[in-house]
Amino acid sequence: MKSIASTGVKSISMIKYIFKYCLFILIFIPSLTSGREIVKFNQNWKFILGNPISAHKVNFDDSGWKDVQIPHDWAIEGQFDAQLPANTGKLPWKGVGWYRKNFDLDSNNIQKQFYFIFDGIMAFPEVYINGRLAGRWDYGYNSFYLNVTGLLRFDSANLIAIKADTRAHDSRWYPGAGIYRNIKMMSVNPVHFSLWDTQIQTPIVHDDSALIHVYTSVNNKMRTSKNIIIQSYVINQDGDILASSIKEGTVAGRSHGKLDYWLTLKNPKRWDIKSPNLYRLKCILKSQGKIVDSLITSFGVRSFRFTADEGFWLNGRRVQLKGVNLHHDHGPLGAKFYKSALERQLLIMKEMGVNAIRNSHNVAAPELLSLCDSLGLLLYNEAFDKWDAKADYLPGMDFNAFAERNISNWVRRDRNHPCVILWSVGNEMGDIQYNIDGGFDKLNTMISLVRKYDPTRPVNMVCDAKGSAKWRHSDYYDVHAWNYGRRYLPARNIDPSKSVIISESASTLSSRGFYELPLPEKKTDFTQSLQVSSYDLNAPYWAEVADDDFMWQEADTYVAGEFVWTGFDYLGEPTPYNDEAVKDGFIRYDQSAKSSYFGIVDLCGIPKDRYYLYKSYWKPEENTNHILPHWNWAESEFKKIPVFVYTNGECAELFLNNKSLGKKCKKPDSENSVERYRLMWADVEYEAGELKAVTYKNGLETSSAVRRTSGVPHRIALSPEKSILRSNGEDLTYILVEAFDKNGYPCPLAENLINFEIKGPAVIEGVGNGNPQSLEPFIARQRKLFYGKAMVIIKSNRDSGKIKLKATGEGLKKAQVELLSQ
Ligand code: GAL
Repeated sequence: MKSIASTGVKSISMIKYIFKYCLFILIFIPSLTSGREIVKFNQNWKFILGNPISAHKVNFDDSGWKDVQIPHDWAIEGQFDAQLPANTGKLPWKGVGWYRKNFDLDSNNIQKQFYFIFDGIMAFPEVYINGRLAGRWDYGYNSFYLNVTGLLRFDSANLIAIKADTRAHDSRWYPGAGIYRNIKMMSVNPVHFSLWDTQIQTPIVHDDSALIHVYTSVNNKMRTSKNIIIQSYVINQDGDILASSIKEGTVAGRSHGKLDYWLTLKNPKRWDIKSPNLYRLKCILKSQGKIVDSLITSFGVRSFRFTADEGFWLNGRRVQLKGVNLHHDHGPLGAKFYKSALERQLLIMKEMGVNAIRNSHNVAAPELLSLCDSLGLLLYNEAFDKWDAKADYLPGMDFNAFAERNISNWVRRDRNHPCVILWSVGNEMGDIQYNIDGGFDKLNTMISLVRKYDPTRPVNMVCDAKGSAKWRHSDYYDVHAWNYGRRYLPARNIDPSKSVIISESASTLSSRGFYELPLPEKKTDFTQSLQVSSYDLNAPYWAEVADDDFMWQEADTYVAGEFVWTGFDYLGEPTPYNDEAVKDGFIRYDQSAKSSYFGIVDLCGIPKDRYYLYKSYWKPEENTNHILPHWNWAESEFKKIPVFVYTNGECAELFLNNKSLGKKCKKPDSENSVERYRLMWADVEYEAGELKAVTYKNGLETSSAVRRTSGVPHRIALSPEKSILRSNGEDLTYILVEAFDKNGYPCPLAENLINFEIKGPAVIEGVGNGNPQSLEPFIARQRKLFYGKAMVIIKSNRDSGKIKLKATGEGLKKAQVELLSQ
């Protein structure tokens, strides 16, 4: 009996397997034959910095131009120039550059429609195909696409030429220059789903079922009208088909037709920050009995709301937003976009306890959305800083037309991503907050456009002008968002029906590894050291230390959460050693820095002390025990050193060379926020050796950590974050470079110059050390350590094989690591 039963089970599962396999073939093979092809268009470009006449023409001689690959940022390759503004990174990003590339098309594709999709070109791109203007764009951070079908040739080579012009662009940080994000070429049949026009909404979500509402648009480029059928399938992560539908329609010739239809998904698994479950909607388009297109769109089923008094709710539970602001640059890589660099950024943030990102302040690379979806991060999706030349909106331009094209592309591109919980149409626009020059009309235009393209999510703008609350700009939008200093209070008092987000919190400043004594008396006590002490007690006058925001959120329980300024250091905006400090006579121009001090991690992603303060608070379930400062003080220096411990425990006992310095506990009721969240020993009599912290939670010992005095640097240590790369020409690994003493203890003050040599199928894409003052080039084969550390970034090429990186330094034992590209 037993064996018969089990045979039965086997054959049932075999039938199921065959069924699933057949369905798989039925559903997935069409994508191979459907005619839709999207390829990256990044290789074999020629580039010149300058504006030669006729550079768009086919017979122009570009043989002297440089060979480049997209993504490309012409300014990051250049030398830093101390004379250039510190606020935009002292890099030569202003100018004009041209790119050209030849390509052939298969004459079998002569009936097809061809589109180029540009993820971002800084700025004002003009695109020429075979010498003729195919289209222009303005906003350098936004994605756009062009249908170039009529300009292409199938009998001879094609030329695409692109001009990027940053001269009219304005910025408060380093913007990058040129084609810094991906280009893709898409070819489709004349009847096809139009780009970014399939929208998936889940208006009703219950535990046992979710309704899925699909809006789509079909382009018919033929002269005659076409009857069409759309077959749609909801597919889970295992490839099972969970729901399907068939929709029929007609699309008139040379037009596009809009259709919508519903599917029901049983027992939907939620997309959540804890379990980012994604579904795919596969749509197959048929015309005259043939499959002409197919499209796969990833989506998630979740519910959320911002409540007036209880913050943010996701899938029926309260979630405090533990967010960071991230700028678009990637430190030593400049604005060049690599998915692996962004993924690493997000993982570093997530490891600290982050559950939300604000892409301050511009339209992000589209990969940010798919990464947030798959990593389970919420996204506060922002489009602009100001509505002026920083958004490439120039005097004389038509505001409504500018808003329509930019909001349309931004929202249509991003609206299917479950990570997006809120749209922001802009940051800190003084004129808008005070309704200057028709500010509210503009605000209304922007907000209405967002709602036109996505009626399902809240939208707002980010405010800073506290006195402007009484203008009630909040009547135009859904959630209050205010930067710094509990400035949200007046707006909240005026309109308590809306939730509150601290869209920028903290702005605490520090340089990784640098400690200055005595401790600052005021947050704005900055010195001529040109670095900011890492005791995490400094902030600009308009901002605060991390602990203040923790305290305010505990008091103001309606606050949905915070977005720290910033997760990573970024290029430009080097407060307090910025251009304003030069103007004020506080520093000389050659003392201003090139990158920010705001980051919780430095420009290379190396944690500063604050990383552990946030982690201790945001991840109370994980043991954190971090001691600062370093323990390598010279006898001639201060005799008494303040020691801080960042821990998720309530108390810790500190030992110096095994002698107890007493147990301290956090003071949750203190008016002084730092006493609530940090443990501080004000005056530890310095003695070289070992400093040890033993932490306690609920009265029980939870962890023990040490800081040791190290000897002189003896050897180099290389630690790759990953050792296997994909040989796709764009995978990165970051390798931490450190100096250790004879006993293997890290040397926190080391500043040795380290040389790198690479062999195998990879290149050194950048080097850095997180020092905001360093003007050493990023594209180099050497780097000085900054407080004991530096970073080398390796990029794979398209060959597989072993990669060897060797690091040498005078008086130091060399180090070598082996990586694999496959
Ligand atoms: C804010 C602004 C940010 C950044 C920050 C620095 O006011 O929105 O872009 O400048 O200040 O603290």
